[in-house]
Amino acid sequence: MTEEIIRIGQLDKSFSGVPVLKNINLSIYRGEILGIIGENGAGKSTLMKILAGIYYPQTAGDIFLNGVRAEITNPIEARRLGISLVPQEFNLIRDLPVYNNIFLGSELMKYGITLDKAAMRRRTVELLAELGVTLSPDEQIENLSAAQKQMVEISKALAFHSQVLIMDEPTTMLTHYEIDILFRLVRKLRKNGLTIVYISHKLKEVKELTDRVVVLRDGEIVHDGPTSEVTTLQMAQKMVGRDLSSLFPPKNASVENETVFEVKDLSVPGVLRNVSFQLRRGEILGLAGLVGAGRTEVAETILGLRRKSGGEIRVNGATVSIMEPRNAVRKGISYLSEDRQGSGIITSFSVAQNTTLVSLPKYSNRLFHRIDKRSERRQVDSYIQEFHVKTESQEKRLENLSGGNQQKISLAKSIDTTPDILIIDEPTRGVDVSAKHEIYVFINKLVRENRISCVMISSELEEIIGMCNRVVVMREGTVTGELEGDAISEENIMAMATGAAEEKPA
Ligand SMILES: Nc1ncnc2c1ncn2[C@@H]1O[C@H](COP(=O)(O)OP(=O)(O)OP(=O)(O)O)[C@@H](O)[C@H]1O
Ligand SMILES: [Mg+2]
Repeated sequence: MTEEIIRIGQLDKSFSGVPVLKNINLSIYRGEILGIIGENGAGKSTLMKILAGIYYPQTAGDIFLNGVRAEITNPIEARRLGISLVPQEFNLIRDLPVYNNIFLGSELMKYGITLDKAAMRRRTVELLAELGVTLSPDEQIENLSAAQKQMVEISKALAFHSQVLIMDEPTTMLTHYEIDILFRLVRKLRKNGLTIVYISHKLKEVKELTDRVVVLRDGEIVHDGPTSEVTTLQMAQKMVGRDLSSLFPPKNASVENETVFEVKDLSVPGVLRNVSFQLRRGEILGLAGLVGAGRTEVAETILGLRRKSGGEIRVNGATVSIMEPRNAVRKGISYLSEDRQGSGIITSFSVAQNTTLVSLPKYSNRLFHRIDKRSERRQVDSYIQEFHVKTESQEKRLENLSGGNQQKISLAKSIDTTPDILIIDEPTRGVDVSAKHEIYVFINKLVRENRISCVMISSELEEIIGMCNRVVVMREGTVTGELEGDAISEENIMAMATGAAEEKPA
């Protein structure tokens, strides 16, 4: 017997008259792992935010919990009803420690009057241990990496006994090892009778983990059935409603020998040790490694966000000194950070404002001291079309775009400064398969036309393998190997990333 926990009946949701969810009918059962997939902007997060009490009320329709009609008016109420959400965008308070964040709004109390800090810290240690994370409960959020923040979000959702655990893109910042731990945990929770709703663009994960898959397209459910009955390709096709071409364009075959950018013996105490690599003109160079290997730290040091204790950065053969990201832009270097919220974009600003945040001088007319609004609009429009950004207008506030569409704008922003060297960290985080393809084609076009050379940091090995001419692998803050051409394979990268390569006898 399968027991229905949640039933959603004829649900609609509109934002200022624009329908986002249309006539949703969905049952969710006890002890299942339900996958929800769909293109960027299809309505996945909106549906889950309604269940988690973040968007209330829905425009029409009903939600039944264990057979009883429920009004889920706010997140605390949702938690009380046994529904927890790991949100797609981090929702943590930067200057509070980990344990405070986990219990925010539902603090544990002693004698009903004082905060029970000891109990909260103890429970936090337990939760983190369960996730295989070594992290102090007292660490401030602002000191955490994106992966660690994601682990805190997951712990926060697990902190309370819930019936339904919703995970909206929980693995975008995690690598193989951490994903393994998470999957094991999710399966254990299912065994204990918990229901897990799992949203992801990584269709392989959805195939591997879930029991049933629901496909949303333009706010409607277009498929609902057992995961075992569909392949990942069929999932992708149901999402986009058409046949898909191959994901990766052919690599640039005419990379030049000239080095445009070089990092030499870069060191940051306790973080990086003698990191060196060279980027050639027209090349896409991958930086691969596990979380914590130091890839993002390399980028941050190049940008002047971390102070180096030794080493050099060279652009076109000349040593440059970059004290802050602004200097980097002037040297022709642009950086897309892995943590969208942590850097660069301002979610309360519009799509257009965000796209040209750094590149605005490009649009200013020196003679009249004015911004050429027309050319700015035209450029922003071309990105919206190129990356299929789902937005009603350029004026829409970024925070009201879906996660994947925010990512596309972040990428557009980093390209719009017309850099010679583009450093992108997790460029397709949370982006759907067809938009990924468009982004790959776009970057590929830029390198082919010799407009940029690119350093790509990514945890998605498929992306590294599909896009890069050469790959530098890092482990524990240092470079452990370099791969080129046919040698770029999952096996070789993982051997270097985990250290297995060194243990093998020569
Ligand atoms: N608060 C809001 N105000 C206006 N529009 C919104 C709001 N929240 C979501 N939308 C719109 O609803 C649509 C669906 O967004 P949603 O975040 O649910 O997509 P998604 O399926 O989660 O996409 P992604 O895979 O990119 O995360 C988008 O077009 C988005 O712009
Ligand atoms: Mg979403």
